[in-house]
Amino acid sequence: MINEEILRLLRDHSSDFLSGEEISRRLNVSRTAVWKRIQGLRTLGYEIEASTRSGYRLIRSPDLLTPSEIKPILETKWIGSEIHYFPTLDSTNSKAYELALDGAEEGEVVIAESQEKGKGRLGRKWFSPQFLNLYLSVVLRPKIPPHQASLVTLMAAVATADAIRNFSGLVPLIKWPNDVLLRDRKVAGLLNEIHSEVDRIHFVILGIGINLNMDEKMFSKEIRNVATSLKIETGQAVSRKDFLQSLFLELERWYAMFSEEGSAAILNAWRDRAHIRGKQVKVTSFGETLVGRAIDVDSDGALILETKDGTRKRVVAGDVQYGMKT
Ligand code: BTN
Repeated sequence: MINEEILRLLRDHSSDFLSGEEISRRLNVSRTAVWKRIQGLRTLGYEIEASTRSGYRLIRSPDLLTPSEIKPILETKWIGSEIHYFPTLDSTNSKAYELALDGAEEGEVVIAESQEKGKGRLGRKWFSPQFLNLYLSVVLRPKIPPHQASLVTLMAAVATADAIRNFSGLVPLIKWPNDVLLRDRKVAGLLNEIHSEVDRIHFVILGIGINLNMDEKMFSKEIRNVATSLKIETGQAVSRKDFLQSLFLELERWYAMFSEEGSAAILNAWRDRAHIRGKQVKVTSFGETLVGRAIDVDSDGALILETKDGTRKRVVAGDVQYGMKT
């Protein structure tokens, strides 16, 4: 907290030096404590000029996702109202779930610079190295029945795809149910966890992982051919803060659309970005493999598939591969 306070004071005086004495007086800590904190901030990448006579001046901030870095640039009304920041966590989803059980409000966000046990779909792991990408979870409290929860996931996939498009000019493809691809490689994934009664959702934890600044060689051999990052695709490093700003705006916009216009608006937007209708697909779901033609997504987000013998099947969870022969 003291680091955050020191940064706030330095930012408020960005055009001028602020004396160590003034900082220590305002924060009620010793001048030695201030000096130690300044040293600590420098090791985090903050460039702080020091003058024996005049004090300290903030020159440049690193691309960290701390509340003091993010809050001033957010343009959202409620997403990010509260930011719970952690240098590392097991999983932002698990932390957000705990906070939501304790009453965290809609829009509160958990962000980590790295995850030790980042969770992927279907029990997989999500590779989450430090300072390169985005790993975050948003607490949502939608007033919808539990069977509509997967629409929140489709909504978030649309918002993530749009943030990527706005930011990079590249046009991502959504792969059912909610992988976001560039050049057929996964750049972002979503994992939503819900807490509900039979007829009422208490909360949804919207977990989003986006590969922003990974280089190809940083991915393990197993995923190198199927994963990518925005940096790989654009050839340029991405400011995580700026991307986050755009992502939160899109999430807020699409969530409002969902609340005001209902599921049809989300399903249509998802269809526009997924181009799944008519594709030959192979789906692996709970150990069973189905091959057929994708007809559509159902009103609850399930994939409707027509197999070779003309039977229609609904698939609620699984992995899809495109371009399969029937
Ligand atoms: C997938 O398998 O496609 C879903 C990946 C979701 C990863 C994100 S990273 C932030 C949030 N916290 C987690 O533990 N997982 C999600």
